[in-house]
Amino acid sequence: MIEQRRPNGSLRHLITLEDLRRDEIEALLQRAQHYARGVGQAPPGSERLRGVTIANLFTEPSTRTRVSFELAGRRLGAEVVNIEVQLSSRAKGESMLDTIYTLQALHFAVLVIRDAEPGVLAHVAAHVAAHVSVLSAGEAHLSHPTQGLLDALTVRQHKGSIAAQCIAIVGDIRHSRVARSAYQVFRALEARSLRLIGPPTLMPPAHEFPGCERFDTLEEGLAGVDVVMMLRIQKERIAQSDIPDTEEYFARYGLTAARLARAHPGAIVMHPQPMNRGVEIASDVADGPQSVIREQVSNGVAVRMAVLEAVAGNMAA
Ligand code: NCD
Repeated sequence: MIEQRRPNGSLRHLITLEDLRRDEIEALLQRAQHYARGVGQAPPGSERLRGVTIANLFTEPSTRTRVSFELAGRRLGAEVVNIEVQLSSRAKGESMLDTIYTLQALHFAVLVIRDAEPGVLAHVAAHVAAHVSVLSAGEAHLSHPTQGLLDALTVRQHKGSIAAQCIAIVGDIRHSRVARSAYQVFRALEARSLRLIGPPTLMPPAHEFPGCERFDTLEEGLAGVDVVMMLRIQKERIAQSDIPDTEEYFARYGLTAARLARAHPGAIVMHPQPMNRGVEIASDVADGPQSVIREQVSNGVAVRMAVLEAVAGNMAA
């Protein structure tokens, strides 16, 4: 695993939550909470990233993650440039590293990268100059660290301590970077119990997610849980023949109001989006009183501000 910290112990890259200590996660969440605002409230701003230039390099589609990294950078006073990878020289065969060296020569200090290929993030981080930080905006099925942090922040805001919660992750866990980062953050914060629920074909291999209870029906798995995290079927990472039929999937694994009634009465419903209504979640549940899905989006900006500030912030500003 790539070293994510500088020799003085401060965070330089954020590629995975796997090796982050509890105190490091707590500090990021605390800072994110400082920046968090409800929908409709004026967003906070600061100058802590004045003079810092950030590149968003996304080679897979993204709406929320890209926009919220961009807003987060701007709200801290940074310059943010979205690089259209399809239009850039990578489409002409320039290697990822040549693109990166070009950005480095243009004085970019933070590279925010989303890529479908496992290992690209660590490869880039191993080759950049000392003043450059690399942040993952989603790496293959492996990791989506800022999503994990925003999920933890959302649970904390609604439920208080993570340590008291029973959390269920539901659906295509096998192909989900969101599930892996959620698992890592909830494990680090010592959640009371973690459950994985899904059809056997979409469950991760036995050695992954140690310490979780596994269920193959929602009826069983949701009993008494405090947090229900729904996932999209990652069709782009599954062979066509293995993609479940959507009607059948909804009939067995869709989160309906009746199934949600099995959970704790105060349970919250989460989804990283994009959502497929009528596939993994019923529309009335997605929009219902227990849903915190839109708050997750708002928290994405706050978490990304905290992470950008941690890796590149000028604390004197
Ligand atoms: C997710 C992703 O790209 O991993 N979206 C997001 O960042 N909120 C989830 C998904 O695509 O299913």
